[in-house]
Amino acid sequence: MSKRFLITTAIDYANGSPHIGHAYEKILTDVIARYKRLSGVPVHFVTGLDEHGQKVQMSAQNKGVQPIEICDSLAVEFQTLCEKLNISNDDYIRTTETRHKNVVQSLLQKLYDEGKIYKADYNGFYSVRQEQFVTEKEKVDGAWPAIYGEVVEITESNYFFKLSEYQDWLIETIKSNESLIYPRFRSADVLNFLKEPLNDLCISRPKERLSWGIELPFDAGFVTYVWFDALVNYITAAGYGTEQFKEYWPADYHVIGKDILSPPHAVYWPIMLKALDIPLPQHYLVHGWWLSSGSKMSKSDGHVVNPLDLIDTFGADAFRYFVISEMNVGQDSDFSEELFQKRYNSHLANDLGNLVSRLLNMGHRFASGIIPKSEIEESEEKTVLKHWESLKAEVFGLYDSFQFHKALEKIFSFIAELNRYTELRAPWKLAKSEESIEQKRLSTTLATMSEGLRLASILLQPVMPEIAEKILNSLGQKSVELFADKLEWGDELAGSEFGEKSILFPKKEH
Ligand code: ME8
Ligand code: MG
Repeated sequence: MSKRFLITTAIDYANGSPHIGHAYEKILTDVIARYKRLSGVPVHFVTGLDEHGQKVQMSAQNKGVQPIEICDSLAVEFQTLCEKLNISNDDYIRTTETRHKNVVQSLLQKLYDEGKIYKADYNGFYSVRQEQFVTEKEKVDGAWPAIYGEVVEITESNYFFKLSEYQDWLIETIKSNESLIYPRFRSADVLNFLKEPLNDLCISRPKERLSWGIELPFDAGFVTYVWFDALVNYITAAGYGTEQFKEYWPADYHVIGKDILSPPHAVYWPIMLKALDIPLPQHYLVHGWWLSSGSKMSKSDGHVVNPLDLIDTFGADAFRYFVISEMNVGQDSDFSEELFQKRYNSHLANDLGNLVSRLLNMGHRFASGIIPKSEIEESEEKTVLKHWESLKAEVFGLYDSFQFHKALEKIFSFIAELNRYTELRAPWKLAKSEESIEQKRLSTTLATMSEGLRLASILLQPVMPEIAEKILNSLGQKSVELFADKLEWGDELAGSEFGEKSILFPKKEH
């Protein structure tokens, strides 16, 4: 059994409808998954829903419904978003599923039996909003910041996981594994956090305070802390406890936003795995935030752009293209509908869309709907070919290093080159001449435009799978399953039929 490339997104909280941050994370992960598959790597791609916890319980109480009803309807919303965005996930995990509860409980029992979880009294300050105890450390100017909401003092008996024993090991692990966290500068945040002594992690909540969670197998008076539950989704989905686990685990990439790197993913998760003697994930890919006027767009402050609206109006691929071309992975980006429309009209409708419709138009008018053979090679064609060769050499390096925005920029500059070439050759003028050399130039121009578009579309497939397929279909081809052997400039299109003229990106006002 060969190891699969396991890539995961964070699992979304079932405490609000999906927003652009959720959509982006899935698209980013999907682009990587599709790119890997096209490169011949067997992929397993998992996303899902994080259902337990105080916030879900509270919003159920407020609405007078059962928590599971809220989760079921949000599961539909999030999965509908995935479908609309053409996300190619192989699994969708929900933390209320039996497969997950079983794994969480077996891990808790194992840690408890090994003395890595213990019971103790705890007196402290508790933030209801953040579902965590807070200490003096979190205070800024003598008060807990607003993100903690109301903070109350409570005494509780609880179960604790011996996080502190692993602090030195974790520091060493992060320092010695430079490729664990991408981008690298985020490791510094984690190491900074680890400068202070770690407290053991309270992994239980008494049922009288929180009942919407997974019960501790060794004490029915408690459920487990939502992060302990949520992080475990990654190994549940990888088939922990079954034969499949060896084939899937360790994860190659956990794709997450910067807000959940430290402490959950970079501190709790590696220590949980170490304590359980399970290998660590290979890498974290940590993306930035979509901002609107400088503040994070999230559901708690009502500052939300509903991605579904733009997808319905402009299509999934236009949306995918926009977020991938705008975001430098790891940095933050500003979202504006105005910019979205500008990009749509210029890059997609004008550059790519026009090239395709021009080609199909001329193919039917000047070549009886059959893609001609290239008959000569003059300096005009040589320039296009040279551009293609340098693009091909560059684009894979950019995809491999998550520089998707740059990869798209390069691909679209090649598309612009094809438009320039078309203007230069002016097939509509060539078509008026009876001279044989002009006829050869005409055939060659249509062949070159077609071949350039074929190759550009294949490179766009991970980002714009539907559009790429449409373009390839209009050249008498199918979308490809593997890059291998498909990226050589040649004349394999000669003799294929041009498809019917269609408008790929209709001009729109939103
Ligand atoms: O954190 N821009 O769930 P979540 C970009 N359930 N990404 C954003 C974003 C924004 N404005 N807002 C949120 C959780 N995200 C936990 C995860 S994993 C075991 C448990 C990202 O619904 C965020 O960084 O609040 C996270 O990676 C994902 O969306 C889900 O966020
Ligand atoms: Mg969040």
